[in-house]
Amino acid sequence: MKGVILAGGSGTRLEPLTKVTNKQILPVYNKPLIYYPILTLRDAGINQILIISGPGHAGQLLDLLGSGKKLGVDLIYDIQEEPRGIAHGLAIAEDFADKGPVALILGDNIFEDNLKGAVMNFEKQERGAKIIIKKVSDPERFGVVKFNKKEDKIAKIIEKPKNPPTNWMVTGFYLYDNRVFDIIRSLNPSARGEYEITDLNNFYVQEGTMTFQKAKGRWIDAGTFDSLLEANVFIARKERAKNNVISNNE
Ligand code: TTP
Repeated sequence: MKGVILAGGSGTRLEPLTKVTNKQILPVYNKPLIYYPILTLRDAGINQILIISGPGHAGQLLDLLGSGKKLGVDLIYDIQEEPRGIAHGLAIAEDFADKGPVALILGDNIFEDNLKGAVMNFEKQERGAKIIIKKVSDPERFGVVKFNKKEDKIAKIIEKPKNPPTNWMVTGFYLYDNRVFDIIRSLNPSARGEYEITDLNNFYVQEGTMTFQKAKGRWIDAGTFDSLLEANVFIARKERAKNNVISNNE
């Protein structure tokens, strides 16, 4: 299966850090943010990766990552002319997908979990989609999952609900069959003018072909000052533990 990283967007919540720099290039301890989704895909067994970013930033990403060889992946690049939503960005990957399924990961998502099992299970699934969900304390900021009575299927995904039905939110790792590109074409823009990933996912939910897996370990969306800091602290602790460095401050 091929992988797509969405690394466009406006990054308004991180301004002025993102005024001249792509969000995905900002540092997370010892690596730029985009390394984490690249390694998540690679460790899930996905080596052929398309990186989609905005017009002003593709050069920076190319300078940083080149062919991807050093990270053990094969990278190509494309441009989303305007940040008109995550589903809109994914549509650019149609030719790259070459009639096959795709894994999509958002460029600002950090997963501690290894998602190889999810990819392998999805490959056994005849059609449909799969999402990775995570229990959080502030679900109202995200797409929130409502389950059926048996809690073995998703009944609905609700975008930023005032009264979340559960604490389970949809992370930025998604697996889709090749019909996804036709489905995106059938979507209408939302009130904020974007082609919403939640609308795309709800298509599969309504069809009964959406499966899910719960993420193990930490998951961080590094798109705000606090979550970017949290990501830095989390990775710093992990790296120091790996290298047996004990800080006097901890
Ligand atoms: P968001 O964090 O929802 O949006 P953003 O990056 O524009 O930030 P802000 O809300 O602070 O303005 O985007 C999640 C990820 O998806 C992020 O890695 C950027 C990417 N993205 C695109 O590549 N294209 C898009 O059109 C959108 C909306 C997001």
